[in-house]
Amino acid sequence: MRLVELGAGTASKTCILLEAALRLSDDVVYVPVDVCSNALELACESVACLLPEVRMEPIVQNYVTHPLELEPFDGTTIALYIGTSIGNFSPGEAQLILRNLRFQLQSADALLLGTDMAKDEATLLAAYDDNDGITAAFNLNILHRLNTELGANFDTAHFRHRVIWNSIESRIEMHLESTREQDVCIEDVDVDLYFSPGETIHTENSYKFTDHGIQSLLNRAGFAVIEAWKDSRSWYTLTLACLR
Ligand SMILES: C[S@@+](CC[C@H](N)C(=O)[O-])C[C@H]1O[C@@H](n2cnc3c(N)ncnc32)[C@H](O)[C@@H]1O
Repeated sequence: MRLVELGAGTASKTCILLEAALRLSDDVVYVPVDVCSNALELACESVACLLPEVRMEPIVQNYVTHPLELEPFDGTTIALYIGTSIGNFSPGEAQLILRNLRFQLQSADALLLGTDMAKDEATLLAAYDDNDGITAAFNLNILHRLNTELGANFDTAHFRHRVIWNSIESRIEMHLESTREQDVCIEDVDVDLYFSPGETIHTENSYKFTDHGIQSLLNRAGFAVIEAWKDSRSWYTLTLACLR
């Protein structure tokens, strides 16, 4: 059995699934795919340590700009797209990612998709604007990275983390709002920016799903839902789908 994981990160949750796969097959291959080579190194180290029987075939690749081309495999392949990563893409991009994946799978293969569900606005806003400021620090980190990696001169003290629930698009939007008039230069790419007070940089989207939305996304990408599981509050759904 082969498990192929898009956006595997450090694979912190995947060992549960790999252990289950080892109960079904004594030949388990794990193909974690991530754009971040450091995360994949950690993933390989932890899987090798916990489950040395699993064969690792990591792929450092951007699965959006360079769609996967899987090696032929003699056995079942389960594609994993968990951790709600799909929510960071627009509906059109999400469909394209799943459609590309679909064409790498054979008739007996399957997809396990994780999605964060639409829920009340207060809960969503609190999740993205936590009291400890963890998400705010994550959001502001993009400005630190632009400063250190592209010679920008953002003064992070004059941008604040802002979260908006866009109910029409069913997505949380993260923004960085300029708290005053300011000029910024991104030297390495020769870009000069002017910000007025209240103007925002739209940094990230996180789409929230409904059961109907998951089903239609999967159907349009060439999958059919087999079964879905939710947590007790129905905040998160794991959907198993086969090829249509
Ligand atoms: C939110 S993390 C999820 C990690 C892991 N799946 C989990 O659930 O804990 C998203 C991961 O996807 C990776 N990623 C995001 N966009 C990607 C892309 N276009 N191609 C490859 N990896 C990507 C990131 O580097 C990151 O490791």
